[in-house]
Amino acid sequence: MDLVQPSAEIVDYLDKPEMIFFGPDEGTASFMDAVAQRARERGYKHWRTITTGKSIGIPHDVYGLTRDRHVFGLLPHGEKGTELQIEGVSKLVTSDPAKIYARLGDKIGTSGMTTMGVMACLRTLLDHVGLKEEHVNLMMTGGPDGDLGANQIQSFKGRICLLVDGGSVLFDPEGLDKKELMKLAFARHTQPRLNSLAYPAAKLSRRGFRVLRAPGRFTLPDGTRVEDGNFFHRNFLTDPRSRHCVATANIQAFVPCGGLRDTVNAVNVRNFLAVFRELRVIVEGANVFFDDTARDVIARESAILQIKDSSANKGGVTSSAIAEVLTAFLLGDDYERVLVENPKTRTRLIREVLDLVAANAVAETRMLLALHAKEKTPLHKLSARTSEELFALQAALQGRLQLLLAHKEIVSGALRAYIPAVLVEHLGMAKILRTLNTPELKAYRDAIVTKKLAAMALYRHAARWEEWQRGLQTDVVAACKELLRGAHHYPTL
Ligand SMILES: NC(=O)c1ccc[n+]([C@@H]2O[C@H](COP(=O)([O-])OP(=O)(O)OC[C@H]3O[C@@H](n4cnc5c(N)ncnc54)[C@H](O)[C@@H]3O)[C@@H](O)[C@H]2O)c1
Repeated sequence: MDLVQPSAEIVDYLDKPEMIFFGPDEGTASFMDAVAQRARERGYKHWRTITTGKSIGIPHDVYGLTRDRHVFGLLPHGEKGTELQIEGVSKLVTSDPAKIYARLGDKIGTSGMTTMGVMACLRTLLDHVGLKEEHVNLMMTGGPDGDLGANQIQSFKGRICLLVDGGSVLFDPEGLDKKELMKLAFARHTQPRLNSLAYPAAKLSRRGFRVLRAPGRFTLPDGTRVEDGNFFHRNFLTDPRSRHCVATANIQAFVPCGGLRDTVNAVNVRNFLAVFRELRVIVEGANVFFDDTARDVIARESAILQIKDSSANKGGVTSSAIAEVLTAFLLGDDYERVLVENPKTRTRLIREVLDLVAANAVAETRMLLALHAKEKTPLHKLSARTSEELFALQAALQGRLQLLLAHKEIVSGALRAYIPAVLVEHLGMAKILRTLNTPELKAYRDAIVTKKLAAMALYRHAARWEEWQRGLQTDVVAACKELLRGAHHYPTL
């Protein structure tokens, strides 16, 4: 906005309103408030939706559900530390993570929007292979100092036996002390963030160890000499010499939550498989931790079920799209009154979005597993293929848009399936339609309708996709109405 100056050479061929959205990525998270504020100063009507990840919005990594389905929040409070809220009510503000642990530690169901999706995916996979989460040993990359890592530590109910983060390789075949890990994860809003280096060595079992990511020699509990900590840290997951200790830990699940791009790649993937022979499932929280060749080899040469990043970690984006963008468009200038200042509505909205993220993740994982069982295509290829199919169907529905828009029950049905019930109740469908039917939001409305129908179709009919598409070509209205029947049933986790 500030950089594009009016000029005779710039011609608006589009000639209709255009919306711009920005989302945070590495290194830009702290600018989101400033960008929205600047847009407001410049008179941009939709300043609330220009960025996601704002502090006045609903940040996607600080809220979660307790086991008995209460919404909790762990919000940053500068020098004072972290505020614990339960159902929107402040319970304490402290820089002592032990106090948060005492109030929340054993009550957490799942923490964070992205992790809600990752865990729903993991739990669906574990169920599929007949393992109980409480009895599973997990390895993770990324640690308590990371957004995803901290939420993973808070959410996983089994033992965590291996954690590799920016600080060290932390290993204990008897399981790392959950309370200590959680305290580090709860210290996430205190500066500096604490990683595995802050894990108390006294809590390691006789066979556990920590090797710092630093030059220098170490001796492992079994007497093995490590010549250089940096080298050990860089190669631990793919060095055949790691096998003798990994073999003692029966690690069956892996959730990467951080680490370098393509850590497991075409060159070292067979070593990875040789080290982690007990692995049954991988859920890619972190992006591109595996390259595609590595994913192919794992699918071909092992029985591991692996869910690719694009399927596993979309919860954060779903949350931003609904809890921040949609909500701000619909509420407009009422946003602060209805959401920021009203803990009840805010809490209900958060719970509904968390449930939606989990339901989508369960549906997507089940769809991928069903296709995999039928065709034997690797799961990561199915993630990519079904995503293309979703876009293709959305484009096809866009081509029949005038027909769909003429059937008001299809439009309102798709919107009801997409918009959290709390907003529908609060605003009423008539008002929602008035807002979304305005010229500047029409394109957004159409995208919601076509995307929601396409996603519901895929989750429900992927296993007989071509047949279903033939039905769609014969009678698009009947096919869409069939999709909308029973659209409100979301399984909870
Ligand atoms: N945060 C989200 O909601 C979210 C959503 C979708 C995808 N992701 C992806 O998940 C990954 C982590 O995101 P984040 O937001 O938690 O990042 P973050 O910056 O908060 O955390 C990064 C983590 O990686 C660890 N780390 C650094 N160097 C490492 C190394 N060499 N080996 C192993 N671990 C190392 C750090 O200790 C830290 O725990 C990224 O790939 C990101 O794109 C995150």
